[in-house]
Amino acid sequence: MDKIIIEGSRPLNGTVPISGAKNAALPILAATLLAGGVHRLHNIPLLRDIRTAKTLLYHLGATFEEGDPLSVHTDNVDGQEAPYDLVKTMRASVLVLGPLVARFKKARVSLPGGCAIGARPINLHLGGLERLGVNIELKHGYVEASAKRLSGNHIYFDIPTVTGTANLMMAAVLAEGQTILENAAREPEVVELARCLISMGGSIQGAGTSVITIEGVSELRPMDHTIMPDRIEAATYLTAAGITRGSITITPCIPDHIEAVIHKLEQAGMEFQISDDSITGIGNEVIRGIDIKTNPYPGFPTDMQAQIMAMMCLAQGQSIITEKIFENRFMHVSELKRMGADISIEGNTAIVRGRPKLQGAPVMATDLRASASLVLAGLAAEGVTEVSRVYHLDRGYTLLEEKLSAVGARIDRVKE
Ligand code: EPZ
Repeated sequence: MDKIIIEGSRPLNGTVPISGAKNAALPILAATLLAGGVHRLHNIPLLRDIRTAKTLLYHLGATFEEGDPLSVHTDNVDGQEAPYDLVKTMRASVLVLGPLVARFKKARVSLPGGCAIGARPINLHLGGLERLGVNIELKHGYVEASAKRLSGNHIYFDIPTVTGTANLMMAAVLAEGQTILENAAREPEVVELARCLISMGGSIQGAGTSVITIEGVSELRPMDHTIMPDRIEAATYLTAAGITRGSITITPCIPDHIEAVIHKLEQAGMEFQISDDSITGIGNEVIRGIDIKTNPYPGFPTDMQAQIMAMMCLAQGQSIITEKIFENRFMHVSELKRMGADISIEGNTAIVRGRPKLQGAPVMATDLRASASLVLAGLAAEGVTEVSRVYHLDRGYTLLEEKLSAVGARIDRVKE
């Protein structure tokens, strides 16, 4: 396993290029299963999760021509099984469930199992499919789904689930009649998937709002789609400017997608210059403590909670950070405390008392965003930080060391 070595206390200055959005690319790759032919996907990010998704599609019969665009050939897709050894490495594999039952009326997908940040059940995905007439059985750790036909229906999500909304949109787009998804997720990645399905011939209204209406069509055509910039990668690098008191310009980006994060970083003392497709974040010597609650979009994203917590460890004053989406997303806290942070946890709330400095230390990544948090802390800390198990990072950040070195970081990857 690799580890990353960082020599901290260096303000970062310069421009960071932002790659395609992981959480848009994953459902869109699954959506290629909805139509035979040759799909062309531009700006697909080079990430471990994308490689896993392609392995799964290959297992189902798809083939690829590498490059930008990535060509996905789906004429010979005939498999209907997503095996445990793939799903356990990436729970987003569950996104093939909707497209497989929509196109083939049959699917056998491993239950994702547990995850570091929470139980993350898929009951809302399965309940929604049943509302469309899909027969769901759980056998030997697998979801066995089958249907004579899919009929549109009214589906209400108890929780605005992101991939649940994606899965049901992809199932309903080929169902007979109208489907209404109520309390749907409003994330930009859901809007991007809807835009992609519409380009394939789907009929979808309301994506980005809590009520999405889908009129089923009989078949879809291949897509030619460009993946939008990754809003969490973008927000992570802006936070790097804040924590190191530097100035980083990120581009391309869609500023509206990270409005909640910019608002909170401004409260913490950062300044921003914003244009149509770039943002410059300027750190301030004094970081102010702020209170944050994670919420579904357009609220503050849970995927930025660990990263902003790292910055608040250096604030003047106290910050109260409440994680309302996942039940176990504070695993970065114990590692940050090993770097000298003063954090106490009460239930789903972390109380961060800012300190003047963090000290470099050997730390261990536990999940994707926790590892980003430890890198940010290492960039600001005095001395050297070694982050182990960086395969977590590689799931969601393309060329992280290269992008950070280009703005002045002393960062290297070594074999453990
Ligand atoms: C997506 O996960 C993202 N992953 C996550 O990003 C992100 O943290 C999460 O949305 C929240 O924004 C992808 O898009 C591939 P949810 P998802 O279903 O869809 C509960 C990252 O770092 N729930 O919106 O799995 C669930 O337990 C990853 O890139 C049910 O109870 O999240 C959670 O508490 C991490 N039953 C809440 O809803 C269900 O059937 C929100 O989960 C589904 C979800």
